Amino acid sequence: MPTVLLTGANRGLGLEFTHRYLERDWEVFAITRQITPELEMLSDQHALHLVSGDVCDAAFLDGLPERMRGRQLDHVINNAGIMGAESFAGTGRPRQGLEDFDRDEWRRVFETNLFGPMHLSARLAPLLRDGGTLITLSSSMGSISGNHFAGWQAYRCSKAAVNMMMKCISLELAERRIIALALHPGWVRTDMGSAKADLSVDESLDGMMAVIDGLTFQDSGRFLAWDGRELPY
Ligand SMILES: NC(=O)c1ccc[n+]([C@@H]2O[C@H](COP(=O)([O-])OP(=O)(O)OC[C@H]3O[C@@H](n4cnc5c(N)ncnc54)[C@H](OP(=O)(O)O)[C@@H]3O)[C@@H](O)[C@H]2O)c1
Repeated sequence: MPTVLLTGANRGLGLEFTHRYLERDWEVFAITRQITPELEMLSDQHALHLVSGDVCDAAFLDGLPERMRGRQLDHVINNAGIMGAESFAGTGRPRQGLEDFDRDEWRRVFETNLFGPMHLSARLAPLLRDGGTLITLSSSMGSISGNHFAGWQAYRCSKAAVNMMMKCISLELAERRIIALALHPGWVRTDMGSAKADLSVDESLDGMMAVIDGLTFQDSGRFLAWDGRELPY
């Protein structure tokens, strides 16, 4: 039975990733800060291991390999992420920029979106089987050349850094033929994406699972969207 580990499993895209892999009879290690009744029910019915933890907790991440009980992983998905506060310092504008810069909030965004995935990847890479897949959910908002709007800067910068992180990891793991890449889920109607977003969770997951199914080693280091398009760094 193939095995996947993913983060942020309790809602949004992470919850749907969990459903999709369980439907395929994969074993799923689901990291979540909140073990919900829905996850508990799923774990009664499937090979779902609920791992309570926070991707900003370094001690938790250091201890993860031991909790995997010697399992090899086929896929690892760094899904958990945050946008950061909408409006810093009460300006009413979600810039996260020069006017409303808040160092603690930037740090929180980077801890969650960048340091967490980097730390988790570092600890779990030895458990990934050769030829396995390591994905971090990025965002088109992390594209530097595609940016024409000075909003959500902490988030944008964290995802731009995620793209570079995944490119570097792809090079580090190339000898083992591990496919490492950044994946943009589209603008999706989750708590983060809001009800105004383009895509349903199902549409995004249909696309992302098809992309994941079609990955080859040639895709390692790329920045791909949910519909398979290559996005500009
Ligand atoms: N939705 C979009 O339109 C969109 C677009 C581009 C990229 N993305 C990316 O896709 C990923 C998933 O987004 P989403 O839309 O599903 O977001 P979401 O609905 O807001 O869910 C975020 C998930 O991340 C978890 N999380 C946040 N901080 C965490 C931490 N420190 N430790 C563990 N879990 C943590 C949340 O858990 P709690 O319930 O405990 O907070 C929740 O499960 C993110 O990386 C996001 O940046 C989303």
